[in-house]
Amino acid sequence: MSNSDAKPMVNILGLMTGSSADGLDLCLVNFTGEGRDPDFEVLFSHEIPYPRQFQLCFRNPLELNDEEIAELDNKLGIWFANEINKLDLKIDFIASHGQTIKHEPPHFTLQIGNPQYMAEAIQCPVIYDFRTADLEQGGQGAPLIPIVDQYLLQQDNSDVLALNIGGIANLTIVPGQHNSAPLLAWDTGPGNTLIDKAVRLFSHDILNYDEGGDLAAQGKINHKLLDELLKHEFYQRTPPRSAGQEQFGKTYFQHILKQFNPRNDQEFKDLIHTLTVLTAKTITGSIHTLSTDYSPTAMFVGGGGAFNKMLMNLLRAELPSIDIVEMDLSGVNQSNKEAFGFAYLGYLYINGLTANLPGVTGAGKAVTLGKLYQPQSG
Ligand SMILES: Nc1ncnc2c1ncn2[C@@H]1O[C@H](COP(=O)(O)OP(=O)(O)O)[C@@H](O)[C@H]1O
Ligand SMILES: [Mg+2]
Repeated sequence: MSNSDAKPMVNILGLMTGSSADGLDLCLVNFTGEGRDPDFEVLFSHEIPYPRQFQLCFRNPLELNDEEIAELDNKLGIWFANEINKLDLKIDFIASHGQTIKHEPPHFTLQIGNPQYMAEAIQCPVIYDFRTADLEQGGQGAPLIPIVDQYLLQQDNSDVLALNIGGIANLTIVPGQHNSAPLLAWDTGPGNTLIDKAVRLFSHDILNYDEGGDLAAQGKINHKLLDELLKHEFYQRTPPRSAGQEQFGKTYFQHILKQFNPRNDQEFKDLIHTLTVLTAKTITGSIHTLSTDYSPTAMFVGGGGAFNKMLMNLLRAELPSIDIVEMDLSGVNQSNKEAFGFAYLGYLYINGLTANLPGVTGAGKAVTLGKLYQPQSG
C-alpha cells in the first residue's frame, strides 16, 4: 500500500475455487481509496482448470478422510503457489476462498488450500478462511458475496437482482439506495451441480457439463420427477439458508436415480432437461416469493451457468418483467465475479471493515472476515 498524500492503493489477487471443482478463478484488482466504496480497476483475470486428481477429489469432498484432507490441503496450497508464481503479477495481498470440503453451519466449515505456500512463494500476506468468523457469531458463513453485489450493483432508485449459478445457485436482492427494505440473499438450491452429475454419468465422464445447455435442449420434461424433486425440504426453508454437497451432492443424486434411472440416450437427455428445469424453477420460485417492497427490473447473472442457454431461456420465460443480463460491468463479468468478490472481501479485511451481513447469514453481529498468513521468510 502506498503511504503518500495520494489515496491509498492496493493490488489484491482474489482466488475462487467453487463447489463445481472445475478449477481456480483469479482476479487481480487495484483498489484506490478508503472505506467501503473504493474505486477499483480489474487488472487481470484468469481461469486455470484443476488437474484431474483435484477434480475427482473435490467433486465428492464428503468422501475424503482426515488424512486425505490434510494431504490435499498442502497439495492444493502448493499448486496455487506454483500457478500464481507463473503469472508474474504485482500483488500486495492474496485473498483466497479455498476449496470447500465441509460446510455444516452453524457448527463447522472447512476450506482448504494451505496459505503458507502462496505467502512464501509470492512473498505477500494471504487472507483466507473467510467463513469461520461468521459461524462463530452463529451465522451460516454464507453467502458472503452479497456485500460485493451491493458494492458493485446498488442503484439509487431501482432494485436489482444478482444471481450466481455455480455448483449451487445464490440470489441477492440489492434494494435501491432510496428503498428502506433490507438487502436479502440466500442459496436458491442447485445451480449446475445436479446437471453436471447427470452429464458425467451419461458421457462416462467424457463431458464435464452440458455445453450451452445443448443436451437439455434435446430432452423433454419428466413432470413426475420434477414434482417429486421440488418437494425437497430445502426449498421450504426460510432464509438464512445455504446449501452444498451435504444437500445436493452424490447421495442426493443417487436418490434421484432411484426415482428415474435413464436407460437410453433420450432418457438421459430427459433427465438433464428436467434437472435444468429444476434449477430454473427453484431460482424463479425464490424471486416470486419476494414481497412487494421490492420491484427489481434487472437481474445480473454470473457463474458458469450463465453459459447454459437453455437455463437462461427458462429464466427469461418465467421472469418476463425482469431484464436478465449476463454480468459485465467495469471488467467484472460472469467468469471472474466471485474471484473479484474475494479480492473485495480481502480489501475489507485489510481495512478492518466488517464483511458479513447479519441479516443475510443469520450471524449475531457484523464482524471482519478472514485470517491473515504472513510470509515467515524473506
Ligand atoms: N459453456 C458452458 N455451458 C454450460 N455450462 C457451463 C459452461 N461453462 C461452465 N458451465 C457450468 O458452470 C460450472 C462452473 O461454474 P462456476 O461458476 O465455476 O461454479 P463454481 O463456483 O461452483 O466452481 C461448470 O461445472 C458447468 O456446469
Ligand atoms: Mg468454478
